[in-house]
Parts: sequence; structure tokens; C-alpha cells
Amino acid sequence: MVKSKSVFICQECGRQSPNWLGRCPGCEAWNSYLEKPAERSKASSRILSESASPLNLPAVKAGEEERFSTSIQELDRVLGGGIVPGSLVLIGGEPGIGKSTLLLQAASNVSRTKGKVVYISGEETPRQVKIRAHRLEIKGEELFLAAETELESILSQAEILKPALLVVDSIQSVYTPEADTLPGSLNQLRLSTQKLMSWAKTNNCPVFITGHVTKDGTIAGPRVLEHMVDAVLYLEGEPFQAYRILRSVKNRFGSTNEVGIFEMLSDGLAEIPNPSAIFLSERLADTVGSAVVPTLEGSRPLLVEVQALTSPSVFGQPRRVANGLDYGRLLMLTAVLGRRCGLKLGKEDVIANATGGMRISEPAADLAIALAIASSYRDRPVLPDLTAVGEVGLSGEIRAVPRLDRRLAEAARLGFKACLVPERSAKNTKNSNIRLIAVSTLREAIRMGLREVGV
Ligand code: TYD
Ligand code: MG
Repeated sequence: MVKSKSVFICQECGRQSPNWLGRCPGCEAWNSYLEKPAERSKASSRILSESASPLNLPAVKAGEEERFSTSIQELDRVLGGGIVPGSLVLIGGEPGIGKSTLLLQAASNVSRTKGKVVYISGEETPRQVKIRAHRLEIKGEELFLAAETELESILSQAEILKPALLVVDSIQSVYTPEADTLPGSLNQLRLSTQKLMSWAKTNNCPVFITGHVTKDGTIAGPRVLEHMVDAVLYLEGEPFQAYRILRSVKNRFGSTNEVGIFEMLSDGLAEIPNPSAIFLSERLADTVGSAVVPTLEGSRPLLVEVQALTSPSVFGQPRRVANGLDYGRLLMLTAVLGRRCGLKLGKEDVIANATGGMRISEPAADLAIALAIASSYRDRPVLPDLTAVGEVGLSGEIRAVPRLDRRLAEAARLGFKACLVPERSAKNTKNSNIRLIAVSTLREAIRMGLREVGV
């Protein structure tokens, strides 16, 4: 917390003094000084710039936030439709994943359309940033670079330039002398973030900060900042793959779980406007152990291939491996397949993958995962041009999924002819571009979804 000194005020003439005085040097009154309680620092107490006194609901100004675009559609969508002035956005991700690249591209775009952008780089010298900018073919006449790490001077420089956007890369590299700890410590992270938040609100200037996260998200700290900022976006991906997925996990100005998909090329991150096609491009037709699910990431449907491989275990204890899928759900699905559908998986290793570096956590993918496992175990491919969506319950029942119409539209767009759907959801859907095969149990779905032997 910021330490602030109290002041003493003469009750006669209003003269102020930092310490108590017996006699006022101004009006010469005796014993007239009273202590005024210390003012709480602006940074810590007033984060929201609007009036602190309560307003009744109709008096609160609402309206659409005036957003502006980064000219990167995938980023705009994940932000909820563009940048909201005065918002503080945290972009987290593992080191080397592409945070600086993405922000430099966005900063350059904003500087072309909205005016000055200040890009503070605490980890690289302006020369290094310039080399990257050259690679990204950024000229950036309105892009101002500084390699500064002291927060107060960052903010005073920004106050002079009055930018349309301030980027601080990274929050771990900045420090404020007010927190008596080393840069990168939790205290520093919290206080610096709080100050940036308050600065953003006071100046109505959006601020982007980056934060390094390690794979388990614990060591480097940004997870502790999640509740302090307006929006949290994570840039994910496997370093050996070119795809990068930008995911919003918190957004005060938009929906969460929105994703943007990029590819890292030699000249920066490129948007992938049609990711389903990319995710399915390497799929081999007619193979066993593969099923396609129309998942929904935020508001966007995405077709993802899930693969499964079952093979007799050479160890006593059969193993279950989930890549990009929830391990607990895989265990549940193998148990349901064993007990409700007669698949003897007790002595089989089961490996299940979501391809393309995707991570799927929604239960609507259960049916496709179960189908892929059954396909591998029975050595029969899933019917060609069939997708599957549905949640699987412990009794082997197929449960309804949200927003089936959007999923079906995407499946039809990519040329799928039929979809296995939960019976309950099928009743409410209007989509006619794809044949619906309504199922109520997993056993039934496997019977309908796998190709007959010898056909
Ligand atoms: P960077 O943005 O520095 O990552 P972060 O800020 O998250 O630590 O990205 C670094 C990686 O991206 C590095 O391995 C090089 C690669 N890269 C490209 O492949 N193409 C490019 O155009 C750029 C700028 C970087
Ligand atoms: Mg970086």
C-alpha cells in the first residue's frame, strides 16, 4: 500500500504544515493546528474514474463502449469487438510464444489509425524492438519506443505524449520504488498493475500489459493479476507448431472463452480466418480412431478432429493419456464405454488427442471422443462425412448441448453431410443443410456412427 503523510491545518487561517506547530507562523494563533487524516493515495483507492457516490440505475451512463479496432480481426473479436478506452488488458503466455510480436503488430496498426502509441519494452532495447519491427515490416512513425522499467517515469512519459494506446511489455520487468521489493516479485506486480489500472482509467487510455506464464501458470505470477485487470487473454500453442490460439479467460467488456487463431510466420503472426479447414486439413479420410466434433469456443464454432488409439497394455496397469482433452473426462468415457457399451477396455491403453494443438474442455465433445475410442477398439472407421456432438452421462445417455444450430452450420459449411446429435437438442434445431441423426444413448451412437464390417 502507498504510504502517504498526513498534514496539519491551522483552524484559524487554513495554513498547512507537514508537522504539528504550537503557534501558527501565519496568523500567530496558539494551539490551532489539527491533523487532517492522511489522504488515501489515488492509485490505491480510486480505480474507477466515475463518481463514487451511488447513482440509481437509470442515471448510470451505459451505451456501447466506444471501441476502436486493432485492425487484427482475430484480436478484436477476442477483446469483445475492439479496444475499450481506459481498459487494462493482460496478455499472458509462455516466453517465446509471440506476445511481443502480436502487441507490436497491434501497436503499429493503432498508431496508423488512431495516433501515437507508446511501446515500453522492459526486456528488449529499442534496437532489438526495431529489428523485430523491421521483420514485421512496420514503419511506425507514430510508434514511440522506450526501454524503461521504472513505472513512474513510464507514466510521466506517457502523460506527455498522450498516446491512443500504451503497451507495457512485460509487467514482470517494471518496478515501482513504492513497493520495497525486487522487480518481478508479487508485491511489485500487484502494485504496478494497480497503478497502471488507475492511470488507464484516469487518462481514459487503454493499456496492454504482457505477462510471462510458465506451463503450470504458477511461477511467473500473472494469474494473481487476473482479478485486477479488465481483460485477460492467453496466447497458447505448442512451440514446435506454428498455430497460436489467443483465448480470453476474463473480459469485463465482452464474452469469455472467445478464441482467435493465428499462425506464426517469418513476418509475424498471421490471422487464420477459416481455422476449421486448417484443423481438418491433415485429416486422413476413412481412418479408424478419428472423429470430428463441432466445438464452440466462445461464440465461434470450430471443427476439431479428435483421435483415439487403443492398444493392449504391456504393463499390468493400463494407461490413459489425454492430449488437449480433459483427463478426468477421458477416464469417465472409458468407464462408460466399458460398463454401458460392452467395450473391454480394462486391459487396453487408451490415448486420446485433440489435433492441431487445440484444447477442448467442453462436455459436448464427449460423444466424438467416445466414438473415436470405439472406432479404434472395434477397428471400424467412423462413417465418412459424419460429425458428432453430445455430452455423455454416466448411464451412457447422450445429453443436450448448447447452441446446436451454430455448430451444425459450421459442419455443413465444411462439407459434412450428417451429424450425430442428442435427441433432445435435435427437436429444437432448424438447420436443414445437414442430416441429423438423433441418438439418446452412447450404445446407439456407436451402432449408427461406425461403418459396418466389410462394407
Ligand atoms: P516473441 O513475440 O518475442 O515472444 P514473447 O514476447 O511471447 O516472449 O516471439 C518470439 C518467437 O517468435 C521467436 O522464437 C521468434 C518467433 N518469430 C517468428 O517466427 N516470426 C516473426 O516474425 C517474429 C517477430 C518472431
Ligand atoms: Mg516478449
